[in-house]
Amino acid sequence: MTVDPQHYRRAMGRFASGVTVATTFAGRHDHAMTANSLTSVSLEPVLLVLSVEQDARWHDAVLESGVWGISVLARSARATAEWLATPGRPLHGQLDRIPHHRGAVTGVALLDGALTALECRTHAVHAAGDHSLVVGEVVAVHTPEETEPALVHFRGRYTELP
Ligand SMILES: Cc1cc2nc3c(=O)[nH]c(=O)nc-3n(C[C@H](O)[C@H](O)[C@H](O)COP(=O)(O)O)c2cc1C
Repeated sequence: MTVDPQHYRRAMGRFASGVTVATTFAGRHDHAMTANSLTSVSLEPVLLVLSVEQDARWHDAVLESGVWGISVLARSARATAEWLATPGRPLHGQLDRIPHHRGAVTGVALLDGALTALECRTHAVHAAGDHSLVVGEVVAVHTPEETEPALVHFRGRYTELP
């Protein structure tokens, strides 16, 4: 019996998640995309994984760069999440209207106002169907004092969690 991918996608939409923006710097440009497949993997060493569509522009950019950032979004970043998931948006300048700063360790863009921001160095890349599992070693953790509710993705929509 085969499973319909769209049915599977809707089913997994019931697995509520946080929403992040993954960033990297390659070819003299910032690359950024909305991603919710983030999972913590290991504490010793400190590892996390992101499942990245092989067709996404961010995929080749992160393979080239080897360093990347994860910004965990707050409720007020909903428009940012929508923008950075929009197919066909211009690559250059996609962060121009999004306040951000540079991570001290890797230099990648990290979004201002993120609930948590992480800097990673690629530890391993595993092919997995039409995605790659990009495993990162976390080389810096930023947890600003922040009380804004989290942006959450559930059933294909954005919501929030205090
Ligand atoms: C809530 C949400 C979560 C997403 N999570 C991922 C993800 O984990 N991995 C991924 O490859 N694409 C994910 N996407 C899709 C990408 O954001 C989208 O395909 C993006 O446009 C890819 O960048 P590109 O257009 O520069 O290739 C997600 C989209 C949304 C709306």
